[in-house]
This record gives sequence, C-alpha cells and structure tokens, in this order.
Amino acid sequence: MKIWKKVLTGTVAMSMVAMMAACGDDEDTDATTDPADGDDTEQEDDGADDDDEAGDDDADEGDAAAGDQEEVTITYARGNDATGSTDVLIEAFEEAFPHITVEYRDMPSDTGQSHDQYVTEFSAGDATIDVFDADVIWPAEFAQAGYVLPLDRFIEEDGIDMDAYFPGTVESGHFDGRQWAMPKFTDAGLLYYRTDIVDEPPTTWDELLEMAEEYAGEEGTEFGYLMQANQYEGLVVNAIEFISAYGGQVLDEDQNVTVDSPETVAAIEKMKEIVDAESSPSNILNFDEPATHTAFLEGQAVFARNWPYMQSMTEDEDQSRVAGNVGFALLPAGDAGSAAGLGGWMTMINRYSENPEAAWEFVKFMTGPEGQKISAMEGGLAPTIAELYEDSDVQGVAQLFADEEFVRTLDNAVPRPITPIYPQISDIMQIELSRALAGDISAEEAASNMQTQMEAALSE
Ligand code: GLC
Repeated sequence: MKIWKKVLTGTVAMSMVAMMAACGDDEDTDATTDPADGDDTEQEDDGADDDDEAGDDDADEGDAAAGDQEEVTITYARGNDATGSTDVLIEAFEEAFPHITVEYRDMPSDTGQSHDQYVTEFSAGDATIDVFDADVIWPAEFAQAGYVLPLDRFIEEDGIDMDAYFPGTVESGHFDGRQWAMPKFTDAGLLYYRTDIVDEPPTTWDELLEMAEEYAGEEGTEFGYLMQANQYEGLVVNAIEFISAYGGQVLDEDQNVTVDSPETVAAIEKMKEIVDAESSPSNILNFDEPATHTAFLEGQAVFARNWPYMQSMTEDEDQSRVAGNVGFALLPAGDAGSAAGLGGWMTMINRYSENPEAAWEFVKFMTGPEGQKISAMEGGLAPTIAELYEDSDVQGVAQLFADEEFVRTLDNAVPRPITPIYPQISDIMQIELSRALAGDISAEEAASNMQTQMEAALSE
C-alpha cells in the first residue's frame, strides 16, 4: 500500500525548518546545566531543591532502593484515557517503585476544560494533584503563573538525555530558560482515508473537496471529510494547519501578530467551503476528536483528519468496522504546501506537591523509554523519543510508527504560538473562526478581528 504522498513544497518546508531551527537553538541546551537554577525565585526552587538531595540515590533503580523507603501516595491526573494505557503504565511503575502508590484522576478529554480545572486548583494552591499531563500549549502559562516546579535540577541529577527527544517537543516545555515539562507523547495532524474507496489520497485541499463530494456514499459511507470544527482548541489546530498550508502565520518569530493576511483569508475560505460541502456532516461545527473517531470507525466517512492515536484504533477489529481498509497520508496541501499541526502532551509537577521527589520518579518513568513504549503499545500514542521508532515492538503496533515519512512529519509539525497568554490567543481564534465558519462574518473580517484582538492581548 502506498502510504505517503509527498506534497511538502519548498515554501512551507522551508518555513517549517526555519521555525524548528528558531525553536531549537533557543536556550534548549542550557536547560540541563542552567546555573540559574540555583538563583531561581525562592518560590520556584524550594520543592525541587530540598527533595532532590534525598531523592538522588534511588533515582536510577527504584526497586533496588525501595526497601527502606517511606510509603507515599501521589495523585496523577490526565485527560480521559479511552485506551486503558494509563492503568498499564501505573502498574508497571508501581512494580518498579513499590513504595509509591499512584492514584489516577480522570480529567475531561477536552483540553480546554481540563486546563480550566487545573487553573482553578493550582491558583488556589491546591496540593491534591502531584503530577499531571499538560497539553503542549500550557507550559509557558503554567510556568509564568508559578503553578509548576522547574525540572532542570531533576533532569541534571538523573542525567536525562534531552537530546534523545524530538527538539520541538522539548521546546514546548521550555520557557524563560528552564525546562518545566517532560515530553510524553507527540501529535501531528494526519489525513486518514478509506483504501477500499480511494486508491490514492488527495494531495491538495481542492482535490480533497472534489473527492469527498464524489465518493461520499460509497461502501456505506455517509460523509466525505471529517475535521474538528467545534469551537474549542481542536479548531485552532485545524485552522493553523490550513493557515500554514496557504503560507500564513499567526505570530512570527518575534511574537508580532501576522494573522491578518491574504493567506489566512484563503485558509478560512477553504475551511468554510469544506464545512458547507454537501458531503460534510450537517453538524460538523460540533465535531471534536472523539466524534471524529467514532464516526470514522463506524465506517461513516471516506476521509478524516485526526491525530496518530486513531491509527491503531482503526486496525482494532473490536472497535473498528473499517479494519484493513484505512490508509493515512500527509494532510492535503494549500498554495504553499502541506502542514501538520503540532500537538502532544507532557508531564509536569504541581509546585505545591508534597511529594515532588516521588512525583519526579513517576514523571521520569512515564516520559522515559519504558513508559513511552507502554503508551505506544497500549495507547497507540506516538513517542517523543526518536529511538523508539526503531524498536520492533513499537513498529509492530501501528503501521504509522514504522513509517519514516511519518516520523519526519512529527519532527516538522507546526507549533502553536508559545506564549504565557496562549489561552487568550486561542480564545480569540476559536471565537472568530467559529463566527466565520458559521457564516456570521466573512473570512476577511475574521482575520482582521483576530489581528486587532491579538495585538491588544499581547500589548497588555
Ligand atoms: C490533542 C493534541 C493537543 C491539542 C488537542 C486539541 O490532544 O495532542 O495538543 O491541543 O488535541 O483538541
């Protein structure tokens, strides 16, 4: 089966490379050796410092040192896990570290809703949650707000090789010269298609629209293309993919707002065309990832945009009616090429945690090779450690993980702006894009409104 269509054109490829380079050469390498760690603001440093000294010796082999350890219980929170991989992770961790019990707290699957719950608890200094999974868009904000511990000292003392991770994933957890989050799994938008209906996936958005209209109805399908167009974070990622594919950018490297451009207008217009297409579900403006995978696995659509986790699901006969009939490809290209949005999750430690040392052990385990392998095998989640893509077990679990082009896509995916006021940027986009997709305002108005409001937010 032909898996990938190469459609990355020069412009976007170059702008992505530039973006990655801009990300990569920042202060990344300083993170592990940052002498500034010592002169952190007192509030940031205390937890990490004190506990590190005690935690140092048992850091490498939990079970060997576990005998005389005090029993501790930590609470770990993450967005709803439909895969069951979290239970397996916790079990494996508790086996290696018998003195640490992990209590698992389920959060909403919508990243925005989870975010708001964390902010409510952490801003009140609540210590209930010790460790939590953070969307790649949160670390800068949480770091600036003082909700989380810097991890540099832990990383340094345990000799964690940050170069083993994809640079973009490390960068998402880096802010103000420090590393606040460890990369757990990465995400990049993909096009899924039914191989029993189309031989070759579309390579441009125009082609996708044409094919969606032509093939919807075949092999029991009802819809052409499914995307995440509900008013939430998923819409922002979908839009950033379109904006990049048409050659635009939300913020430039210097944090100037550049969203009001003909490229953004072209991108929004294409999204609107898709929303309005006859082959699109009439409630596409309510679609998020779970709605997408549910419909696609039931065989309702010819094409869908989703994250890597859906690939292993499509192949699982217990939950998929389309097993054996699904291929994946780069998202279609606009005028400037194809672009995948960068997503993914990291882990962070509540700065008020009463057990930062045990919390770190769990973070280290989940985000290290052993934990990431469990997440890949049990949850179909894409590792952030490049070497794991050479592991034959990982390659065996999903075709995606054995595909070199996919791994390159992960490395080149387009990040969302890294700024402590990301929630405001996202809200502005969510509202204006939703209005444009519903037909309440034009694409031009949406682009111009976003520009004005983002400029105001950034200058506050
Ligand atoms: C996925 C991505 C995350 C993104 C979210 C949007 O969970 O990993 O980064 O914000 O989808 O719905």
